[in-house]
Amino acid sequence: MEKILLLHGPNLNMLGKREPAVYGRQTLDDIVAAARALAVELGVEIVSYQSNVEGELVTKIQTAASEFDAIVFNPGAYSHTSISLHDAVLAAGLPVVEVHVSNVHKREEFRHHSFLSAVVEGQVVGFGAESYLLGLRATVSILRSRRPVPPRARPARKRSTR
Ligand code: DQA
Repeated sequence: MEKILLLHGPNLNMLGKREPAVYGRQTLDDIVAAARALAVELGVEIVSYQSNVEGELVTKIQTAASEFDAIVFNPGAYSHTSISLHDAVLAAGLPVVEVHVSNVHKREEFRHHSFLSAVVEGQVVGFGAESYLLGLRATVSILRSRRPVPPRARPARKRSTR
């Protein structure tokens, strides 16, 4: 079973209380619970980790390669500032999907650029809490399209009628 890290950067522990007009009313716990339900449906395991500290996120990404198959990552404001997180994603060599609750492109100009965008598989932005779920679906699809289907899981071949 694929194991996926749900990684959350600074201030995402404040979801639900923080600027609800921008980020909605769902807490991080609500989002992780919805992601867990989707993970069961998709047949993957997820682990969630949040930190407000850039270095802790770097360390988590560095160590993720030995434990996880992929990362769904909301780097929060570090998206717009952090070369260290860019480098950590490159070094880890794992597929990473970047997610944002808000549509960063509709907001202040300083949010339009992400230092992660060039090293991730893709981004999901602007769908509220749903961004995480779409990001998780995309991640599973990326992992499964890369992995050969084991022989026993292949549908039985039709017998020739001739
Ligand atoms: C965010 C967008 C960032 O610009 C902001 O700093 C955040 C949250 C989002 O999920 O919409 O903290 O990553």
